[in-house]
Amino acid sequence: MRAAVMYETHQPLVVDEIDVASPRNDEVLVRIAASGVCRSDLHALDGESPVAQPPMVLGHEGAGLVEEVGPGVTDLAKGDAVVIALYGPCGTCNECRAGDITNCWSETRTRNMVGRMPDGTTRLSKDGRAIAPMCGSGSLAEYAVVREAQLVKIDPDIPLDLACLAGCGVTTGIGAALNIARVRPGSCALVIGCGGVGLNVIQGSAIAGAARIIACDTQRSKLDLASDLGATDCLWVEPGEQIPERVKALVPAGVDYAFEVVGHTPLVTQAFESTRTGGTTVMVGAPAPGTTVTIDSRVLFSDRKLLGCMGGGNIPARDIPRIMRHYQQGTLDLAKLVETRIPLDDVNDAFDALRVGDTVRTVVQP
Ligand SMILES: NC(=O)c1ccc[n+]([C@@H]2O[C@H](COP(=O)([O-])OP(=O)(O)OC[C@H]3O[C@@H](n4cnc5c(N)ncnc54)[C@H](O)[C@@H]3O)[C@@H](O)[C@H]2O)c1
Ligand SMILES: [Zn+2]
Ligand SMILES: [Zn+2]
Repeated sequence: MRAAVMYETHQPLVVDEIDVASPRNDEVLVRIAASGVCRSDLHALDGESPVAQPPMVLGHEGAGLVEEVGPGVTDLAKGDAVVIALYGPCGTCNECRAGDITNCWSETRTRNMVGRMPDGTTRLSKDGRAIAPMCGSGSLAEYAVVREAQLVKIDPDIPLDLACLAGCGVTTGIGAALNIARVRPGSCALVIGCGGVGLNVIQGSAIAGAARIIACDTQRSKLDLASDLGATDCLWVEPGEQIPERVKALVPAGVDYAFEVVGHTPLVTQAFESTRTGGTTVMVGAPAPGTTVTIDSRVLFSDRKLLGCMGGGNIPARDIPRIMRHYQQGTLDLAKLVETRIPLDDVNDAFDALRVGDTVRTVVQP
């Protein structure tokens, strides 16, 4: 099959013919219909991701149809429409048993994050050399072999080129608002960075009933979209501009919730300083390893909270169906998030577009 392989960081992906093995116990072969390209794919290619080592098939925002199921697969059958979640729980550790799937740090989960099956192997190879699928997904390819625990069946009527976004960007953004910050009705939220993930923090805050949602970005086109998707105020900023001053001109006491959705630690500090006493900041962006967030201790002292947000705290089997329901009821817009659709051969264009930063999601249709 053909797949977009990162053989080296800092180099274009190679759309290459590679081997894919049959699914083994509890595994499923998925024919990928569509895959979004997330900034975390770009972080991987830029050598800034702790979970992405070459050779790796990138992509972790995929949806498709079940092609073949391995032994022991009980809940899926050939032809089912599925979204590949960002992670699949092990199901047996203390956290999984308690329903706290996001915090499963079993060997199954840690291997899954670096693209390995629980036994350390992968189903992808080229000339006998193992290739890992990013996040156990590797959706920028014609096929993926995924653990059943990482797949969520969806209504076949939902277009797969929209459903794929629930693999990462939409679940992370909605989950940041609903699961991590637990945005309250009538509150005020600030979202710094209105790309594929940030726009969904806006939609999630709107679903939660936030009365005021301030969108902040350096690109005016993103703010137009933010406004369509529920932002009540738009702050266009120059890179490096002080955001707390601009926010406090609108909300003098500061916001209830601030979300950093760029992946730049100085902006986490600025998000934190934009909150009111007792306010909550969520770092959704994925900063480069080794970077540090600076927090003024007296600002923290005033009962403020700073939270991390791996995957939006999402429980795939609960949250992906919830997202699909919101889409079908019209309370969540997925179509506006997709700017361009391209074939696998043009995959590097999606990465170039992310570097320029003026597009939302490019969806690759292998
Ligand atoms: N927490 C998680 O599990 C998780 C999941 C997915 C993505 N991420 C991370 O979230 C971040 C955003 O991902 P994305 O796919 O939405 O990226 P994106 O490129 O689509 O969006 C980033 C947005 O930030 C804006 N921006 C850049 N500099 C800015 C500044 N100085 N001030 C305000 N806005 C600015 C850009 O114009 C763009 O609209 C990345 O770091 C990504 O790795 C984290
Ligand atoms: Zn992602
Ligand atoms: Zn577990």
